[in-house]
Amino acid sequence: MKSRIIVTGGLGFIGSHTVVALHEAGFEPIIIDNLSNSRLSALDGIENLIGFRPQFAQIDVNDAFALKQLFEEVKPQAVIHFAAFKAVGESVEKPLMYYRNNVGGLITLLEMMKETGIKDVVFSSSCTVYGEPSEIPVKESTETKPAESPYGATKQMGEVILKDNSSWCNTQCLRYFNPIGAHPSAEIGELPLGVPNNLIPYLTQTVAGIRKSLTVFGSDYDTPDGTCIRDYIHVVDLAEAHVSAVKRLLDQSYADSFEVFNIGTGNGSTVLEVIQGFEKATGLPVPHTIGDRRAGDVVKVWAETTKVENVLGWKAKRNLETMLKDAWNWQKKLSERADN
Ligand code: UD1
Repeated sequence: MKSRIIVTGGLGFIGSHTVVALHEAGFEPIIIDNLSNSRLSALDGIENLIGFRPQFAQIDVNDAFALKQLFEEVKPQAVIHFAAFKAVGESVEKPLMYYRNNVGGLITLLEMMKETGIKDVVFSSSCTVYGEPSEIPVKESTETKPAESPYGATKQMGEVILKDNSSWCNTQCLRYFNPIGAHPSAEIGELPLGVPNNLIPYLTQTVAGIRKSLTVFGSDYDTPDGTCIRDYIHVVDLAEAHVSAVKRLLDQSYADSFEVFNIGTGNGSTVLEVIQGFEKATGLPVPHTIGDRRAGDVVKVWAETTKVENVLGWKAKRNLETMLKDAWNWQKKLSERADN
């Protein structure tokens, strides 16, 4: 029998790609999603890719009763926990909503895992825990900094909560850098609701004519071209990292019951390099202007990937050109669709 893996937030951007990667690796993914920031069309996309509709339950991770019922019915071997809010600016405006959902939801999930005897979890963390990093590339051992936003604080608190529960719960804590791109088939991808906050959906919507022009947030930073540097990672590579983390949990090959890995490529790109890269990859111009710095932006951050390569045995395979091409193919598909 296939190992069953519960994927909370399994219809979201990273979740949907991970569901497909789990299926391809021989697992049986079971999706939980409350559809607060995702759409059922993601399930259609997954179905088109894997050939059948995986089990899906419209459950909120704050709903202890529903979670427990599902866990007892499904008897999963592990949980991958994506379900959380992720907009930095919104978290500043609505901190309680973020703490309730991201921290409260994690606590409820862990309580129900404990009650039903599930011991293994993969947690979505973020490079935001390093703040403006004290060393670059950033290692897993690089000091974390006080969070700049409630969103960042919820990721730090999540890590602490999981670490404090390591007597019974085994965690693979994945600190994502900047996930972009989409499945090469363009069946699944990112579905930002409203005006996107993140660079790539804003860029692709601009090229698609939905937005007038992309604003580059600041060009006077201490970087080669003055714009911020990030470690962009293809969402399919990121999904595959989750498969490696689940295998490590189920094989019990971890060295510690709480382990942290950086999930990045190890390469940094400036905002202007991303724009030029997109123009080269697609042959399409990106209308853009230089604007003011965005409050709270880190100047430069990219990952040291030695630990994840040597210990988890995972390495990003897809380059920036592939990420940008796939992001554009997804945007073209979205523009043709009614639910855009
Ligand atoms: C942020 C969060 C990260 C979170 C991620 C996903 C921080 C430090 N980072 O990443 O934890 O996981 O969002 O929600 O809190 N940019 C522009 N113009 C735009 C949009 C972005 O120039 O219209 C620039 C930004 O200044 C930045 C880069 O593009 O340099 C990437 O920005 P973005 O995609 O928003 O991601 P982060 O802020 O790096």
